[in-house]
Amino acid sequence: MFACMSRIDALIRRMTLTEKLGQLTMSASTELVTGPVLAGDLAAEVGSGAVGNVLNVHGAERVRRLQRMAVEESRLGIPLLVGLDVIHGYRTLFPVGLAEASAFDVELWARSAREAAREASHAGIAMTFAPMLDVARDPRWGRSVEGPGEDPWVAARLAEAKVRGFQGEDLAAGESLAAVAKHYCAYGAVTAGREYASADLSERTLLEVHLPAFAAAVAAGVAAVMPAFIDLAGVPMTANAPLLRGRLRERLGFQGLLISDYNSIGELIQHGVAADLVEAAALALQAGIDVDMMAGAYRHGLPAALQRGLVSMTLIDEAVRRVLTLKERLGLFDDPYRRGRGAEAPASLAGRRELARRDAARCIVMLKNRNATLPLASTVQRLALVGPLADAPGQMRGSWWAAAEELEQVSVLAGLRAALPRAQLQHASGVAIEDEGTAGIVPALRACQDAEAIILCVGEGALMSGEAASRAHLDLPGQQRALSEAVFQQAGERGTPVIVVLFSGRPLAVPWLAERADALLAAWFPGSEAGHAIADLLTGRRSPTARTPVSWPRALGQVPIFYAQRPSGRPPVADTAYASRYLDVPNEPLYAFGHGLTYGQFVLSNLRVTPASASLADTIEVRVDVVNEGARAAEETVFLFIHDVLASVARPAMELKGWSRIELSPGERGTVCLPLPARELCFLGAQLEPVFEPGQIELLVGPSADRSQLLVERIRLIADA
Ligand code: GLC
Repeated sequence: MFACMSRIDALIRRMTLTEKLGQLTMSASTELVTGPVLAGDLAAEVGSGAVGNVLNVHGAERVRRLQRMAVEESRLGIPLLVGLDVIHGYRTLFPVGLAEASAFDVELWARSAREAAREASHAGIAMTFAPMLDVARDPRWGRSVEGPGEDPWVAARLAEAKVRGFQGEDLAAGESLAAVAKHYCAYGAVTAGREYASADLSERTLLEVHLPAFAAAVAAGVAAVMPAFIDLAGVPMTANAPLLRGRLRERLGFQGLLISDYNSIGELIQHGVAADLVEAAALALQAGIDVDMMAGAYRHGLPAALQRGLVSMTLIDEAVRRVLTLKERLGLFDDPYRRGRGAEAPASLAGRRELARRDAARCIVMLKNRNATLPLASTVQRLALVGPLADAPGQMRGSWWAAAEELEQVSVLAGLRAALPRAQLQHASGVAIEDEGTAGIVPALRACQDAEAIILCVGEGALMSGEAASRAHLDLPGQQRALSEAVFQQAGERGTPVIVVLFSGRPLAVPWLAERADALLAAWFPGSEAGHAIADLLTGRRSPTARTPVSWPRALGQVPIFYAQRPSGRPPVADTAYASRYLDVPNEPLYAFGHGLTYGQFVLSNLRVTPASASLADTIEVRVDVVNEGARAAEETVFLFIHDVLASVARPAMELKGWSRIELSPGERGTVCLPLPARELCFLGAQLEPVFEPGQIELLVGPSADRSQLLVERIRLIADA
C-alpha cells in the first residue's frame, strides 16, 4: 500500500486545482437519466480532466471510448471511475430488493450480487450504487421496493452479503465492483412516506433501526457510502458532519469514499441551508463528502470557497486522495480497460438466467393457500389467466432495471405456456394497470368461464414504486378491484378456485383481496425469469419458501406498521377499553413479518435453551424439533426473536436475532439449531451506549412474528463473574 500511496501523493502534488476538483466530480451521461438535472458534453470534460468520474454510461465500447479519453487525452491520464445503479442485476434481473429480502437467504443475496457484478463489469462498470439498505416501515414510500424491509437485523445481514457479493475477494479483479451502501441514513423514515420529505426520529430509533445496516456494510469493507437526500431533524444528510465525519468515519471507522446523491449538494440551497453553490460546496466538503454527483458544486463552487476561506486545500487533498485510493484499489491505474474486455461466455449467461429463475421462485411469498389450492393438479387442462400483469414482461423488472430489455423478460403467460404446453390457456388482461377503462372485464369473465382454475395477475406497475414513487393509497390502482371482484363473483358461482399473483413494490392494504382469493402469492417484481418462476411454483416444480420481510397493513391507518414495537404502558388486553388500539381495525397486521406458507405442514416442538444462565461471553444454544406433517417435501424457515422483559429502558416486544431453514420430506423430523451469542443481547441503555443487563430474556421461536405461533423459553443473563 505504501508504494501506491507514494504514487498517489506524487500525483496529487502534480495536480492543478481544476484537475483535483475533476476527481471530486461525478457526471452523468444522458443515456440513462436518474435525476432532475442533466450534464453537458461528457467527452470534452473527461478529455480535459474536468470530470474524473461518470455514471449512467454502460456498454463495453462506450465505456472504453470515454476511458481512453481520460487515460490518453487528459494531461495526467487518471482513469475514470464508472458507476451505475446495478441494484438487482445489470441485464439479467434478479428479484427486486424487497423480494430478495423475502428469501431470508444470505447465500442467495451474495450470489445474485456476484452475478450482477460479473455481468456489469463486462459492460465496463466498476462501481454499483448498491446495496440499498434503507429500513422502511411505511409502505407509502416508493423506495421500500429497493430495500431490506422493516427489520434492522435482516438489513445488516443483507448488507454484509451484498458487499461480499459485489466486491468479491479482490476489488482489483475484473469482475468486482465497488459497492456503495446507500442511503445513509434513515431515508426510509420520511414524513408520511412522502419521497424526499424530512425525517424526524429519536436518536434511539436512528441508532437501533437505521444505522445497523450501515455499520455492517462498513465492517464488511464497503468501498463507498452515499448519504440520503433528506434532512434528518433539520440537518440535510449531505451536510451532516456529526453523522458523516462523526458517527460514520470516527465511530465506525469508515475510510472509504463518500459520494453525494444525484445533485444533492446543489439541493442544499433548496433545503435552505446554503445561499449559493459556493456555500453548498463548502458545507458538503466540510461534512466529509468526497465526490459531488451531478451538482457541479465542487467544480464551480470550491474555487470561490477556497478564496473565501470556507474550505482548505488540505480538505480537498484528503478527498482527492480517497478517490485516487479507490481507483488504485479497483486496479484502474494498473489496467483501466480491465473491465469490459471480452464478452462473457454464453454458458455464463444461460447459467445466470437459471439462477435468476431459481432465486425468483425463492422470493415469491405464498401468503395464502386455502384448501391446498396450490400446486395445480398435474392433470389440469383448462386454465384462465387474467389481469393486467398476466402478459406484461416489462413490468416484471420492477424499478432500476439498468440494461434489461423489456422483451428479454419472461411474462406469466409465457412461463405458463412453457410449463403447461398441453393445457388450454385462456388469456385476457381485463383492465389496464392504472387507467379507468372497464370494457375488458366482460371478455375477461368469458375467458374464465370454462376454466378449472383462474390465475388473476394484478398489482402495481414497475414504476409505481422506486424513486419518486410514493403512493398515498395502498390499494390496487385503476379498475383492478372491479375486475377482481367480478372474477371472484363468477368463480364463486362456478366453484372455480382463484389464484391471485400480486405484483407490487410494497405491502398493499388489500384485505378484501386476501379474503376472496383461494391462494395469494406476493410476487413483488421477480425479475427476468418471473414467468418461469411463477409457473414453477404454481405447478409444484418448486415449493414456495419465501417469507414476507414486511408487515402487511390491513389499513393505511395502521402505518407505520412493524412487529418490533415497544409495548406501551397500556398494551391491548381483553378486559379494558383503556388500551393501545384502534376502534375500527385490529392492531395486528393482515400478514405478520416472516409469514409465508410452503407446500409442507410443519409443527415445532420441544424448544430447549442451554445454558439456563448466560454471561456476556457465552453463546446460547437454542434448539427446536420440527416435523413435516404434510404430503409434500418443503423447506421451513424458523425465526428466533428475543424479548427483554425488564430493562433500564422500554424494549421492543420482540426483536429478530436469527433464523434458520430446514428441508424435510413428508413425515421427516429434524432439529433446528439457532446459536445466539449473548453479546447480541446488549442494547442501548438510557445514555444510548451499549449495555448488558442481568435479568430474564424471553426467547421466542417459530414461523413468523405472530406471537401466537411462537414457542417461548426464558434464559437468565448474569453479570460477568
Ligand atoms: C438517484 C438515487 C440513487 C442513485 C443515484 C444515481 O437519485 O437516489 O439511489 O444511486 O441517483 O442514479
